[in-house]
Amino acid sequence: RVIVLDFGGQYNQLIARRVRECNVYCEILPYTVSLDKIKELNPTGIIFTGGPNSVYDESSPHISKEIFELNIPILGICYGCQLMAYTLGGVVTPATDNSSCEYGKTMTNYNKDDVIFTNACEHGVSWMSHRDYISTVPDGFTVTATTAVCPVAAMSCPERKLYGVQFHPEVNHTENGKDMLRSFLYDVCGCKGEWQMDSFIDSTVAKLKEQIGDKGVVLGLSGGVDSSVAAALLSKAVGKQLTCVFVDQGLMRKDEGDFVEQTFTKLFDMNFVRINCQEEFLSKLKGVSEPEAKRKIIGTEFYNVFWNKIRENYGSGYFAQGTIYPDRIESGKGDAAKIKTHHNQVEVPQDITFEGIIEPLQDLFKDEVRVVGEKLGLPHELVWRQPFPGPGLGVRVIGEVTADKVKILQEADAILREEMDKCGYASQMSQFFAVLPGVKTVGVMGDSRTYDELVAIRAVTTDDFMTADWAKIPYDILGRVSSRIINEVEHVNRVVYDITSKPPGTVEWE
Ligand code: XMP
Repeated sequence: RVIVLDFGGQYNQLIARRVRECNVYCEILPYTVSLDKIKELNPTGIIFTGGPNSVYDESSPHISKEIFELNIPILGICYGCQLMAYTLGGVVTPATDNSSCEYGKTMTNYNKDDVIFTNACEHGVSWMSHRDYISTVPDGFTVTATTAVCPVAAMSCPERKLYGVQFHPEVNHTENGKDMLRSFLYDVCGCKGEWQMDSFIDSTVAKLKEQIGDKGVVLGLSGGVDSSVAAALLSKAVGKQLTCVFVDQGLMRKDEGDFVEQTFTKLFDMNFVRINCQEEFLSKLKGVSEPEAKRKIIGTEFYNVFWNKIRENYGSGYFAQGTIYPDRIESGKGDAAKIKTHHNQVEVPQDITFEGIIEPLQDLFKDEVRVVGEKLGLPHELVWRQPFPGPGLGVRVIGEVTADKVKILQEADAILREEMDKCGYASQMSQFFAVLPGVKTVGVMGDSRTYDELVAIRAVTTDDFMTADWAKIPYDILGRVSSRIINEVEHVNRVVYDITSKPPGTVEWE
């Protein structure tokens, strides 16, 4: 395995993904991890990530010089490269004005004799983001890349297998960036590139079988990608010893509950339990219109229904969750400002004592989870399902949620999805859905005045959902969606399109 040592840069997960794309298993660890732990893990290579601006900032992370004595190949990226230079006695010159800064695409000259750049062009674009720069490399190092501004865009000391790049090879804008990472992994670290999803499935299934033995395992299935893939994997390992509990709170998209039930009962060997509790949820939501209050009610109600069921019948054996790798890394981060409450992870009540918690996808990124799902035979629709908020349509019916409003929204949303699928536009969108703002407007149908509901269409493109752009859906598609919704969905007489990016808007309306 390779270790990505996290110095707080923004592309840390991207580095890990790129490494895995080279079929090399890697993990991200905080820079504070002890040398003993690193020795114990015995990685084939270490990558230092980028990080805060200057090695001279008191608060910026540093690392013990001893790490360079372990005889493990190291690649430092951006701040990681400066840290390597600084720690080993080179000179990092602090930025006093903007003359040493480089941001964005930068023409770079590479020494193709260096093992990292064998597959790069002599001159190519790299992605830079730095202020300080390395002015003198440490003893034993040579400069292997330069730019017009930066005297040391890369450096290396092949005898000690130490390499550094000032730019970001993990970012797509760096031409041949992935080749550079691959050269480090294969040619310097000697990785063979054997990390494959097939072997992941085989070894995980074997591990699960051994761990679970003849005990039971229960999983909360939401119908989302992660819990579905976890269910499929567990089903392959232990079949009917697996119970999947699926809470249908009536706030799913049209026919979604039935689709999930059919998929798992027909295609997979397991004990599938569906709890239909639309009425309970709606009665708890009666008269409530404040978004956070609604989220809280839905979250609490879900928690009660789900755990009561488990307490009744399945409160022993193991508990499984579809936690994936980014969930684990993010949960270690500080408190970001709370914009809205997301209910993703389920907490086990104290009175239920399982043998243990099983998280079979805990080392995978989302795209890897999808590959596993496809290999296990989950339907395309489930594997490529868009993100769907835990509180479901409860946060897309703005204001008070009623059965009638949910029905209107489900019908409108189904038409939107059908039209987007038909024209092939769906796959270009990160997320799209209908919203029922709870606004009535005047219209005219036939010769009569109408006073009916407004439906809003929301569609965004984004890489990470932290920021998002509103999608530029062609007018003719929007027109078709609008006229179908107005003609086919009773009580809707107007459709609008949301053209707000995030920020300042959020993706969901509540
Ligand atoms: P916002 O509205 O915060 O949404 O810009 C960003 C992404 O998160 C999804 N979302 C949720 N996902 N539980 C979830 O699992 C939630 O409570 C929740 N609220 C929003 C949203 O659909 C979008 O993909």
